[in-house]
Amino acid sequence: MSVAADPVKLMKQEVGKAAAEMVKSGSIVGLGTGSTTAYTIQYLGERLKSGELKDIVGVPTSFQSEVLAKQYGVPLTTLDAIDHIDIAIDGADEVDAHKNLIKGGGAAHTREKVVDYLAAQFIVVVDSSKLVDRLGSSFAVPVEVIPMALTPVTNAIKELGGIPELRMGVKKAGPVITDQGNMVIDVRFDNISDPVNLEKTLNNIPGVLENGIFVNCADVVLIGEVIDGKPVVRRM
Ligand code: A5P
Repeated sequence: MSVAADPVKLMKQEVGKAAAEMVKSGSIVGLGTGSTTAYTIQYLGERLKSGELKDIVGVPTSFQSEVLAKQYGVPLTTLDAIDHIDIAIDGADEVDAHKNLIKGGGAAHTREKVVDYLAAQFIVVVDSSKLVDRLGSSFAVPVEVIPMALTPVTNAIKELGGIPELRMGVKKAGPVITDQGNMVIDVRFDNISDPVNLEKTLNNIPGVLENGIFVNCADVVLIGEVIDGKPVVRRM
């Protein structure tokens, strides 16, 4: 594929593959969700098939990553069967200079947060378009809500100064339903100056299951870029 044809796809491929290279034999691996980690899961499967990588097990963060792991031959486990995760690899929708993230573009942030926070090493894989000076600049904060609490949670978010929008399905009438059977409200904030507090404040609203602000958890951010027509991966 030529870089000019689809540079974003190429950046995602390269960065997804670079993260898969960091996985060592014998590891328990958190498998993230999204189009970038799809390449990581694919490449982990290829490394297992070639014999270069041995004895890994994956912990999926969504139905999507579970399906991909099965497709590419990555063995799976559950959190009930293990006592640690060595490395988790996951995408993000925004990354600031402190490695704080907004996630949940695929409505998987609740399971992602459980798995990513448990990992001894959490690697974030993004293309350079995801880098921002301040969280919330380009992406709304996804908030997973239990269905019976949709109205009071929406009102509480408005009181906080957020602009809530119920996420609607594509090729499905009605709202997006998460892997847990809940709904997602995407919340625009004018200015997220204190992501640590906003994460806690949103999660304190009764009826909120989890929000997509991830703070103080990413160890390494791998950034895919196209420089002089060639894909490169750099580390933050
Ligand atoms: C899933 O809910 C998200 O947190 C994804 O990890 C995030 O949206 C990044 O996805 P892409 O790799 O597809 O951009």
